[in-house]
Amino acid sequence: MKTLIPPVLIAAAALAVAAQTLRQAAEARHFHIGTAVQARLLTDPAYSATLAREFNQIQPEGEMKWRVLRPSQHAFNFAPGDAIVKFARSHGMRVRGHTLVWHEAVPAWLEDGHFTSREMSALLREHIDTVLKHYAGSVYAWDVVNEAFNEDGTMRSTLWYDKPGIGAPGPYGYLERAFRLARAADPHALLFYNDYNFEAGGKKFEAILAMARDFKKRGVPLDGIGFQCHLKLGSLTGAQLEHTMRAFTALGLQVQVTELDVRLPVNAAGQASPEDLAQQAKLYGEVVHACLDVPACTALQTWGFSDRYSWIPGKFHGFGAALPFDVNYQPKPAFESLLSVLLKG
Ligand code: G3I
Repeated sequence: MKTLIPPVLIAAAALAVAAQTLRQAAEARHFHIGTAVQARLLTDPAYSATLAREFNQIQPEGEMKWRVLRPSQHAFNFAPGDAIVKFARSHGMRVRGHTLVWHEAVPAWLEDGHFTSREMSALLREHIDTVLKHYAGSVYAWDVVNEAFNEDGTMRSTLWYDKPGIGAPGPYGYLERAFRLARAADPHALLFYNDYNFEAGGKKFEAILAMARDFKKRGVPLDGIGFQCHLKLGSLTGAQLEHTMRAFTALGLQVQVTELDVRLPVNAAGQASPEDLAQQAKLYGEVVHACLDVPACTALQTWGFSDRYSWIPGKFHGFGAALPFDVNYQPKPAFESLLSVLLKG
């Protein structure tokens, strides 16, 4: 005998099955869920299948930094970045660019080049102009300047700031110049300032907010603030994040979570305790919840997606397991938490 299943149950079941990925859940609410990727891994079927299934936005982890883009003063190497753009295009994803001005990942010819202020200024103009024009129409938003402030709110000493630096007038000299150059090179790209360890408030947060206020007041083209969110347990609450995000959105800026990971203590095999994994899941949930609560929070990205490829173990001895998928691309409690908050509507 044939049992008839009411259509409403079929529809509900189809919805439940349909929304089992972060990407589907995000797209159902017109949200962008992204991750940092490495071009060399895009040919790995397990990596690329998970990436295309779960995310609708990607950002190169290193391929659009000076060290990769500028192997020598007179040559640009766009191939790795282009491979990421191509992957995004063929999988219906958008691309976030990272990063035009930073003190790390700088090629030796630039770091040790003893350039004058005038020469540095010309190099910055050439770089921003060439890179933004190359990726115009392919990269919708850029981290124009990355990590320009110290924890105490002072400006970080970098090759752009003081060796000899760009020397433009005003406290935000080289930043202002970079944002103006970026707007001129690609008027359609959204321009972000991106930083870490200010998400819970404090002196660095106040300094970035003061810069954002000044830029808005004087018409310096700044569209958004990237909250990196490299977290450990206890370092941030959803309420704190929402509060600091709203301080920027009140100025008319967008905010995005750009580099989310939550590092945990791990054993020699790289494994975290079930208790810590549960706490990690809770924190992931709080972060995405805060972003969804703030209307101008327009995307959330994790810094990689599988524990197989994460910067954490190489940088923080004894820590790891920071991402939503394990080393075998299996979803962790953090994934379930992200998914359930994205699904809640
Ligand atoms: O590709 C070379 C390889 O050829 C060489 O043999 C090897 C030897 O060290 O180095 C490889 O390059 C490394 C590169 O990552 C690619 O894996 C660099 O040494 C290493 O310094 C680089 O680290 C990256 C770092 O930024 C500096 O660019 C991390 O993967 C990346 O996760 C990290 O990302 C930053 C964000 O851009 C800004 N916010 C903080 C975040 C974490 O530090």
